[in-house]
Amino acid sequence: MTKNKARIAVLVSGGGTNLQALLDAERDGIIHSGEIVLVISSKPGVYALQRAAKAGVRGEVANRRELVTQDKFEQRILELLEQNNIDLIILAGFMSILSEDFVSRYPRRIINVHPSLIPAFCGEGYYGLRVHEAALERGVKLTGATVHFVNEIADGGEIIFQRAVKVQKGDTPEILQRRVMERAEWILLPRAAEKVSKEIIKMK
Ligand code: GAR
Repeated sequence: MTKNKARIAVLVSGGGTNLQALLDAERDGIIHSGEIVLVISSKPGVYALQRAAKAGVRGEVANRRELVTQDKFEQRILELLEQNNIDLIILAGFMSILSEDFVSRYPRRIINVHPSLIPAFCGEGYYGLRVHEAALERGVKLTGATVHFVNEIADGGEIIFQRAVKVQKGDTPEILQRRVMERAEWILLPRAAEKVSKEIIKMK
């Protein structure tokens, strides 16, 4: 840990609006117990990597397609995490599920943001826009977002924060996704990052 801050890696796969919320929160002092030092993308060329570069944060790719097996993919991520002395891993729109072996190396050191009120619309197959499509198909009146610790069960770890968001008449999956991001994800994820970073510092 440098300067008594938890060293944070953010894992992404796409646009990275949650990554942006984290970078902005660090700039604004909402995250002050941790420092984002590394961004790892499972896909090359995604906009999240540009966001990292703009903020002066090291960006790396662990190419899920090219690395073919889960083992090789996770090995690459582990190497990057170890090289950079990472204390806390934040999954922010990271679209791969990590193995039990990987997760067991970082107990209470990996957090994830999920765009529903867990245990609704979560687990394997529920990611990104698909979650909002399922919520609209089911006709729920309330949805939201959850930040939780990652354990060996997909979306099954201890819940850190949740916030409800109303579904409105005429919502499309895209409109609902945006509202859930703005009113829940981008607020909860930085708060959880600060909370867990603080706990990590205390324990060291
Ligand atoms: C976010 O809504 C995030 O909660 C979701 O993907 C989106 C990524 O957007 N993650 C999952 O569904 C994980 N199961 P972003 O790249 O703009 O942050």
